[in-house]
Amino acid sequence: MSATMFISCLLLITIVGAEVLPDEFQRQFDVMIIAKFDQLEAKVRDQEIQLKTARGEILSLKTEVQRLESVLVLNANKKSRSVDSNQFVANKAMATTSSALFVPRTCHEALESGLPEFKESGMYWIDPDGLGIGDGAIYVYCDMSTGATSVGHDSEATIEIPKCRPAGCYSRPIVYSGGSLNQMKALSEISANCHQTIQVNCLGGPLTVNSIDYAWWNDVNNKKQTFWSGSDESIHTCQCGSENKCVRPDLECNCDANVAVPLTDNGNITLSRVLPLTKLNFGQINHNGGSHTLGKFTCSGKLTYAYPTSCADLWRIGYTLNGLYPVRGSTRVEFVHCDFSLGQNVKQEKIGYADVKTQPVHFYVQRSDQYSSSSSSVIPFNIEVLNDGGAMDIRSGIFTVPKTGTYLFDFSGVNDPNDGVLSVEFNIDDKKMASTFAGDLGHFTINLPSVWHLTKGSTVKLTISHGTLYSDNKNGPMVHLTGILLEEDIFA
Ligand SMILES: *[C@@H]1O[C@H](CO)[C@@H](O)[C@H](O)[C@H]1NC(C)=O
Repeated sequence: MSATMFISCLLLITIVGAEVLPDEFQRQFDVMIIAKFDQLEAKVRDQEIQLKTARGEILSLKTEVQRLESVLVLNANKKSRSVDSNQFVANKAMATTSSALFVPRTCHEALESGLPEFKESGMYWIDPDGLGIGDGAIYVYCDMSTGATSVGHDSEATIEIPKCRPAGCYSRPIVYSGGSLNQMKALSEISANCHQTIQVNCLGGPLTVNSIDYAWWNDVNNKKQTFWSGSDESIHTCQCGSENKCVRPDLECNCDANVAVPLTDNGNITLSRVLPLTKLNFGQINHNGGSHTLGKFTCSGKLTYAYPTSCADLWRIGYTLNGLYPVRGSTRVEFVHCDFSLGQNVKQEKIGYADVKTQPVHFYVQRSDQYSSSSSSVIPFNIEVLNDGGAMDIRSGIFTVPKTGTYLFDFSGVNDPNDGVLSVEFNIDDKKMASTFAGDLGHFTINLPSVWHLTKGSTVKLTISHGTLYSDNKNGPMVHLTGILLEEDIFA
């Protein structure tokens, strides 16, 4: 309601009450009311202006905050090497929430980026399963001389194994600073190789004796493992066993000697897909003095694929945007839809084949005059309507397969009944593969359509073994042969 309307109403009320109010009082009252509302109107206008200004300021502050955030985030990796634990948390929040930041998937990738903030070895944020998808970034040690990524844990120091009897009675879970096992699985999936070293000092306390496992470790999938070195999960062994240097040559590990003298077993576990170790278990510990030391989980290099075959491969080489991608099928290029939202648990949907050919191959040749033979001979042609790819040699009539794949051929002609039965055959690499004939009771059309899977370099010949192919000059060419490459084996 505007001030004037409001005042009109008031005046109306005033007029109604005119009998009780003296004129002068009423006039003064009106003037006061009008002044009051003019004042209020001005105040509202003023506040509207202030509000507009404030909105503008908020907007520019927002922009500034965003700008500062991206600056901070770009420096996150630089700073995070020399920060206390509070900063650690702050940087982690930054590394996991911002999309403007380059967070490498591995230290190898950081090194390859050539960015100055990744020059020195130290602690960095990386996101193996891809930024913005899967789990949040993890904080790891990067050796920038090699690009190796190492994830630390709470059992890197030498830890004493207490006395206890039953197999696996002592059990220590390993807590990684990376936190997420999924991120560590992702790290090993995209790295060329991973390893983790372990040292066991024993005073008695065997690992495995007479096929009884007193000690074992749990792998990344929580599966029990008894190989303490190498990459063969089917054999119980330690480094001394693989080098034939154990104190007892008939055993695979020094500790398996099960004697009350201090012995040491070393191991370097290199089977990426079971790493890292998640739990260490020991038993049959009769003496104090045994201990274990577990190295960091370390991965280096990166997997490469000449031709990715799946969404998972694409994810490993760094694709994280959902969409339709061509990949290598068994022989052809296929299209798959990839959903990378869950990190390495990539969802793949096969869409179909892509019709990819490295060269066009199709021809259509004709003969405008008669051709006869009493012995098997290749039919030559004299008109080349089309010969894309040049695989058909019309003079000799020989088609040489330029690309391995599936081909369609079709022959048609008319017999000359005056020369008896007409027989025509397809020969692949000089072997008769299909034939047909026309009798001699009139002019018959003879057809020979076929589809073959052919290997590069093979020859296809259309031969006539008996009779005459009819053609006259009045009605145009009557002998026809076509060939088309339907599908090429791209990955033959
Ligand atoms: C463990 O194996 C890895 C990969 O083969 C190798 O790079 C590393 O030097 C080895 N470590 C030890 C302590 O033998």
